[in-house]
Amino acid sequence: MVILRTIGIVSGKGGVGKTTLVANLGVALSKFDRRVTLIDCNITTSHLGFCFGLFYYNKTLNHVLRKEANLSEATYFHFSGIKIIPASLSLEELIGVDIDQLKPSIENIEDTDIALLDAAPGFGREAMSVLSASSEVIFVTIPYMNAIADVVRGYRVVKQLGVRPLGIVLNMVRNDLHELTETEVEELTELPVIASIPFDKNVQKSLAEGVPTILYKDYSPASIAIMRLASELLGEYYSPPKARIFSRILDFLFPKKPNLLSSNNNLRLWK
Ligand SMILES: Nc1ncnc2c1ncn2[C@@H]1O[C@H](COP(=O)(O)OP(=O)(O)O)[C@@H](O)[C@H]1O
Ligand SMILES: [Mg+2]
Repeated sequence: MVILRTIGIVSGKGGVGKTTLVANLGVALSKFDRRVTLIDCNITTSHLGFCFGLFYYNKTLNHVLRKEANLSEATYFHFSGIKIIPASLSLEELIGVDIDQLKPSIENIEDTDIALLDAAPGFGREAMSVLSASSEVIFVTIPYMNAIADVVRGYRVVKQLGVRPLGIVLNMVRNDLHELTETEVEELTELPVIASIPFDKNVQKSLAEGVPTILYKDYSPASIAIMRLASELLGEYYSPPKARIFSRILDFLFPKKPNLLSSNNNLRLWK
């Protein structure tokens, strides 16, 4: 029997890249033939679907938490091979939702080796429900003191709950002088830095296209860092794709402006 790994992706500060990591790490893990389900547990400000160009769903995690649907009814299949359980985009859908039901609701998730749980920022009730439902946790942070202080706070909570911390993902790293280095972060938090993901414009470009960065450009620096993280989490071998010089020159010479309104047509559905 395969033991399900439920990995909570958490942060103290918002906007540090949790949702981006969930989407891309999910795709990366599935490239190593793992059955992956992504769950949007940030029910008050859900964003996970945007990374996949998904904006409207009939049944969501909200329905599951209200016991109006079972998990499979709220599960959507992406062409990359991963499954997504989104949260509703509409605030009205929060009525009657009990986030404390998260753990029992996902305990018997089917056809999944790894579930990645996208948490709300901070360590309030919403994020705590993710920690309670997780067997392991990854902290995402940017390399600045305020965000790192939140990791220290979060680690205390994680220790109390007895969840296994996998470590820290440093995101949007620019190697500026005023950033904390990996070693400084490790000293301050007493946690290992398991990945350092560079600031990469392709992340925002791929979001605008509604495609995870790894599928948008597998040779982009962020994609390579996340594939490497997935390979290390699984103990698998990964060899980064060769630099595609011509693609890079074309990208540089003819940058494409995505037609945001047409690709986001479905936005109308939840307005
Ligand atoms: N490595 C990166 N390089 C550039 N932009 C990034 C990177 N990671 C995330 N972003 C951008 O930062 C913003 C916040 O990311 P998001 O994943 O939504 O954060 P969170 O879920 O922690 O609130 C998004 O616009 C996303 O595209
Ligand atoms: Mg998010």
